[in-house]
Amino acid sequence: MRVSRLSELKPVILKIGGSVITDKNRELAARTQEMSRLAEEIQKVNAKNLIIVHGGGSFGHPVAQQYAIKEGFKEETQKIGFAETHHIMTVLNGLFMDALIWRNVPAVSITPSSCIITRKGRIQCFEENPLKMLSKMGFLPVTYGDAVFDSDLGFTILSGDQLVSYIATKFNAERIIIGVDVDGLYDADPKVEKTAKMFKHLTLAELKALQNKLGESVACDVTGGMSGKIAELMPAIERGIPATIVNATKPNYIYKALKGEKVEATLIEKE
Ligand SMILES: Nc1ncnc2c1ncn2[C@@H]1O[C@H](COP(=O)(O)OP(=O)(O)OP(=O)(O)O)[C@@H](O)[C@H]1O
Ligand SMILES: [Mg+2]
Repeated sequence: MRVSRLSELKPVILKIGGSVITDKNRELAARTQEMSRLAEEIQKVNAKNLIIVHGGGSFGHPVAQQYAIKEGFKEETQKIGFAETHHIMTVLNGLFMDALIWRNVPAVSITPSSCIITRKGRIQCFEENPLKMLSKMGFLPVTYGDAVFDSDLGFTILSGDQLVSYIATKFNAERIIIGVDVDGLYDADPKVEKTAKMFKHLTLAELKALQNKLGESVACDVTGGMSGKIAELMPAIERGIPATIVNATKPNYIYKALKGEKVEATLIEKE
């Protein structure tokens, strides 16, 4: 993939997990207070090189699962499911945009279904000029996991995690920050294994060695939960872009991670 330029600064890609801004145990349960707090932290950092991607949480995933959107277009009845999945993501995105804009952050959302086509679930074309313009002009681009059109499957689900890795690689990001609802990456799902051990630092080789031990998600997640996330991140890490997995539900953790300050998290680097 050819590296494109945004501005002089290398971008920082921040993923805000659906596990943070929604309650994944209840359908359509937005955590608007968390969104407000995160918006405040983002506003306080005032970074000029930030790109945000957020996940679907209990908005996108359950509807996508109900209509098997990720598996592609097989029957007419799925069309309303595609429409609903995309629509509900615009609703979640709207709530988050509201929180940012109310705090005077010039955030502008980019809708994946309108500028991305995948092929067998992988990004095939991405009209990147609006993202570039936003970035160059000092706006904060915000995009999200979405239901998208697929040249082979008709349609599918594009995860926020794939978008993070794609954008980071395409624009030669400085680093990736992944905000989730747990303290970092563990040797097993900490919500299942109470004795799971958290990693503070991992090299790509160490990550590969434990990849098949990682869990998905106890909640509904059509894009593979934590193990799907790690699989997506690997190519970006391979390119030398470090990734930090941090608990975004804890106040100021995202602030500190964005500032480059020390914070309890898992740092994954190529070497
Ligand atoms: N080895 C692991 N280490 C850490 N968390 C893990 C691990 N295995 C599974 N998990 C689970 O992964 C979950 C986070 O992934 P999940 O996909 O559910 O959230 P998300 O990506 O923030 O949500 P969304 O996909 O909506 O953006 C955590 O809640 C955790 O319980
Ligand atoms: Mg997920």
